[in-house]
Amino acid sequence: MDFKGQNILTAEQFDKEGLFKLFEEAREMEKALKRGRDLDVLRGKYMATLFFEASTRTRFSFETAMMRLGGKVVSNADMRGTSSLRKFESLYDTAKVVSQMVDVLVIRHYESGSMAEFAEGSDVPVINAGEGPSEHPTQGLLDLYTIWKEKGKFDGLTIGMVGDLKNSRVQHSQCELLKHFDCRFIFVSPKQLVMPEKYSEGLDFRVESDYAKAIKDMDVVSISRIQSERFDNEEEYKKFVGLYVLDEKMMKHAKKDAIVLQPLPRVDEIAREVDKDPRAKYFEQVRNGVAVRMALLKLVLA
Ligand code: NCD
Repeated sequence: MDFKGQNILTAEQFDKEGLFKLFEEAREMEKALKRGRDLDVLRGKYMATLFFEASTRTRFSFETAMMRLGGKVVSNADMRGTSSLRKFESLYDTAKVVSQMVDVLVIRHYESGSMAEFAEGSDVPVINAGEGPSEHPTQGLLDLYTIWKEKGKFDGLTIGMVGDLKNSRVQHSQCELLKHFDCRFIFVSPKQLVMPEKYSEGLDFRVESDYAKAIKDMDVVSISRIQSERFDNEEEYKKFVGLYVLDEKMMKHAKKDAIVLQPLPRVDEIAREVDKDPRAKYFEQVRNGVAVRMALLKLVLA
């Protein structure tokens, strides 16, 4: 898989070789980060972040990644307030215009299908930083990188996915990326929020409703919050709040060497008491995310 000059729009475009190429590069980036000095691999390159939907981690993560590589950043955290949206500019034109000024666009948008239109308009690579409820490939990549670091392998692992499997773009991208490996899956969610067939197709999975029973078999516990912003109203959303909570008591059922992943933010699906459990890896994920995004930006732009 060749990264140079490519759009990164979906987890589907990654093959096994590409994944490991990225992970090896991310490992080098981690070493550089530990040395505490910025690199200059992307000196003279500019990245624009265009966020049409709220973000804290993903935008900061991309921006620190670019700056640590010696590149520069122009950023808009709320594209909904810009003339692009207020004056009804097409996504195609917005991408076309900004791509005349910078070397890469990192975009988050609330609509599925938006990334294809941005990519069509852009004259520089577009990186998907979250597309409605569909996909979030770079989060999926950093999640797999975390699994690889912690477990040293993917084959043979049982991956549990818990939460809002219907609307979690992160878990969708995880499924797409894990299709390359010999994993078993356990899906735990309310009946109304099951994993769409599009993402579970071809996977060896079973569905469980009893969290305490299911967690016993999981090597990786991948959790999503109920994605409130995807519901028509608060009442609908509230039906699912507090259904699956990982607390100390629940952790007693988990394997001794399991790892717990959550892209964050969390609401109530992981009790804070779990943070001190060495199996909780969600803050490490954040750190890994910077290294993985540095690796990706380098492979696409250098
Ligand atoms: C995720 C997202 O935006 O999809 N957050 C993130 O990128 N770290 C997950 C979420 O919001 O639940």
